[in-house]
Amino acid sequence: MTNKKILITGGAGFIGSHVVRLFVNKYPDYHIYNLDKLTYAGNLKNITDIENAPNYTFIKADLVDAIEINNLFDKYGFTDVIHLAAESHVDRSITNPMDFVMTNVVGTVNLLNAAKTAWKDNMSDKLFYHVSTDEVYGSLHDDGFFLESTPYDPQSPYSASKAASDHFVRAYHNTYKIRVVISNCSNNYGPNQFPEKLVPLFINNIRNNKPLPVYGKGENVRDWLYVVDHARAIDDVFHKGNVGETYNIGGFNEWTNIDLIKVICKAMDKRLGRHEGESEKLISYVTDRAGHDLRYAIDANKIMNELGWKPSLQFEEGIEKTIDWYMDNQVWMDEVTSGDYQNYYNKMYASH
Ligand code: NAD
Ligand code: TYD
Repeated sequence: MTNKKILITGGAGFIGSHVVRLFVNKYPDYHIYNLDKLTYAGNLKNITDIENAPNYTFIKADLVDAIEINNLFDKYGFTDVIHLAAESHVDRSITNPMDFVMTNVVGTVNLLNAAKTAWKDNMSDKLFYHVSTDEVYGSLHDDGFFLESTPYDPQSPYSASKAASDHFVRAYHNTYKIRVVISNCSNNYGPNQFPEKLVPLFINNIRNNKPLPVYGKGENVRDWLYVVDHARAIDDVFHKGNVGETYNIGGFNEWTNIDLIKVICKAMDKRLGRHEGESEKLISYVTDRAGHDLRYAIDANKIMNELGWKPSLQFEEGIEKTIDWYMDNQVWMDEVTSGDYQNYYNKMYASH
């Protein structure tokens, strides 16, 4: 095993924290550098269990700052990049698209430029891995699946910014010969997700007896994957993926929003000792999201057949584990929703 120095971006966020944990624990010979701006979605409390590991370093930095990113490559000599940092919430992209252009597009190009400069004398043992989303493929109707060859057709400012960043990554491979891989994953759920996304928001609202805002008729379909299974897939793509290729990652696990919400309500009724059907009464149909994609569904056969990856958890088990985690970590949830942790980090880093 080589002594890699892997830069993981966005490691204080939801998926990134699971990837950082997996790599720090599984590969003691690698050094993991977690670069994160600590936006509202970044929380170092997601990774307290590995923060003192000898093979781990946290770097607070903004990908939009090109000079700082170049300096960090000089300082640490990163050998590989796993790029997850992004603005990730579709609803926020509708109200503030420019944040998404800056972090997701400009930030990704800054990172590519820094890698291109730092690695110019020897590209052969370096890898730039871009973690992307199935939303770049657009919206499906009742049948069919997204394949790696499906043409891009992004419909929201978020997916447009992720599509643009994917295109830049491929363009840098073609033009400058940077060795790249890309993966496009379906919706993740699990511990440590910021409670603006459907699953943690609804768990928290049920716990607090607050309305559950279902967009439109709740008929939109998403393909859900447990976050640890995504992190395992990222490990496989990083180590076994073919350079220049794309891998779709998904759980073959499609749910309409309303059916998924009913599963959560039922499990929460049990967990809270409520009568069955009590939490469902909190469902409140609200105005639909603008341009709401109808259906996402991933064909994950390539990564399964070529890299031997498969999801480890059935959905019912994954959702139970997820609910248990949020119910057992109410301090985490309360701090995140109150913004306490952000005030703390703003103060903590103000002097740096
Ligand atoms: P998240 O919003 O939970 O975390 C994003 C992290 O990036 C945060 O820690 C944030 O502080 C950091 N960040 C944001 N802007 C930054 C900047 N300018 N510089 C440095 N750091 C910055 O996101 P997530 O859900 O964990 O998603 C991670 C990646 O996976 C994203 O690229 C996303 O597009 C992709 N993805 C997410 C899902 C999903 O269901 N959540 C599915 C497929 C792909
Ligand atoms: P979300 O978790 O925001 O992920 P994405 O939009 O990236 O798929 O939303 C998942 C689905 O749930 C999506 O169809 C929008 C819907 N949704 C609601 O109905 N109500 C909500 O409050 C939220 C946050 C999402």
